[in-house]
Amino acid sequence: MNLFSPLYLRSLTLKNRIVVSPMQQYSAINGIPGNWHLVHLGSRAVGGAGLILTECTAVSPEGLATLNDVGIWNDEQKTAWKNIVDFVHEQDAKIGIQLWHSGGKGSLRHPNERMKPLNDEEGGWTVKSSSATEINGVVPKELTVEEIHELTKKFADAAVRAVEAGFDTIELHAGHGYLFHQFYSAVINKREDEYGGSFENRIRFLIETVREVRKVIPEIMPLLVRISAVDYIDTPEGWTLEDSIALSEILKENGVDLITASGGGFTNVSKDKVFPGYQVSFAAAIKEKTGILTGAVGMITEAHQANEIITSEKADLVIIAREHLRDPYFAIHSAKKLGIVTEIPWQYQRAF
Ligand SMILES: Cc1cc2nc3c(=O)[nH]c(=O)nc-3n(C[C@H](O)[C@H](O)[C@H](O)COP(=O)(O)O)c2cc1C
Repeated sequence: MNLFSPLYLRSLTLKNRIVVSPMQQYSAINGIPGNWHLVHLGSRAVGGAGLILTECTAVSPEGLATLNDVGIWNDEQKTAWKNIVDFVHEQDAKIGIQLWHSGGKGSLRHPNERMKPLNDEEGGWTVKSSSATEINGVVPKELTVEEIHELTKKFADAAVRAVEAGFDTIELHAGHGYLFHQFYSAVINKREDEYGGSFENRIRFLIETVREVRKVIPEIMPLLVRISAVDYIDTPEGWTLEDSIALSEILKENGVDLITASGGGFTNVSKDKVFPGYQVSFAAAIKEKTGILTGAVGMITEAHQANEIITSEKADLVIIAREHLRDPYFAIHSAKKLGIVTEIPWQYQRAF
C-alpha cells in the first residue's frame, strides 16, 4: 500500500490517497461559486488529486463568515456547483462538499479588510452560537433549542442539494472554532440545557445533525467529519485528544466513515506546536483507538512525507492545503518523485 493505492469508502473509490483540503477563496457573490472556483478546484482535479474538497460551504446565509463565502442553501447555488462537479468528474477525480455554519465567527469583512466585523449598512447580521461567550471580540447571541433544531434541518437540506448537484461525498465542518465546535468545546459552550454541560450534551448538536444528514443521503455515499482534535487550550475547558477519540467512536457508530483530524480555532497556536506533519499524530491516535478511517492534515508538503503517512498506516488519506496552492499538480509530481506511474491528462502528456 502507498500514496497511490485506491481507497474504498462505501461505494466511492478514490484513485489515490491525496486530497485537496478545503480552502476558503472569498471569491463568491451571493454564495454562488463562479469561474474562480471552477478553475481553482478544476485545476487540482487536472493535477491528479484523488479527492477534491470544496471550501467551507454555508448551509444558510447566517452560516457565512464573510459575504464572499460560498453556500448551498438555494437552487441557484446548487446549479453553479453542479457545473464544477461535472468538470471534476470529467478529470476522473472525485469531489466532496464541506458543509458548514460559522456560528459566532460570522458577519466579517473580506480578509483584504482584515476580517473586521461587518456593520448593518455593510450587510452584517447578529451572530449566534451555543452561548453568549466572546469569540474574537464579538459576543454572539445564544441559540434557542428550536433554532438548534432548525439548523440541523438546514444541514440536512443542504446535504440533499449536494447529492442533487452530484457530489461524491459530504464533509461536515466541525472544527476550527465554527458552530459545531462552539458546541462541543466547553471553552465556548456554557449552556445549562440538554445541549451544554456534560460531554454527551455538548456533542448532541453534531450527533443529531450527523443522524439527520445520514438519513437524507444515499446509504452508499460516504460521510466525513472534520474536527479540531484539540483546542490547543490548556485549561479544564479545553477540548482534548481523549475527547476526540470518544467523539470519533460515537460518530463512527452513527454512520460517519472518516474523520479529518485538524486542530484549534479559538486561539493562535504557538509556533513550537506547528511543524511538518504536526497533526498526523491526532489522526493516528483516533485511527488506532477507534478503528475509524482518518485523514491527516497540517504541513504535509512533500511526496515522501505523504507516502510515509500512508505506508505506516498513521492515516488513510493525506489532506493537503497550502502545498496545493503552490503546486496544483502535487499528485502528478509526487508520483514522479516516488517512481509510481499515474495517469496524466492527455492534453498535458507532452510536458510530464
Ligand atoms: C487559504 C486557506 C483557506 C482555508 N479554508 C478552510 C476551509 O474552508 N475549511 C477548512 O476546514 N479548512 C480551511 N483551511 C485550513 C486548511 O484546510 C488546512 O487544514 C490547513 O491549512 C493546514 O494544512 P496545510 O499545512 O496543508 O496548509 C484553510 C487554509 C488556507 C490556507
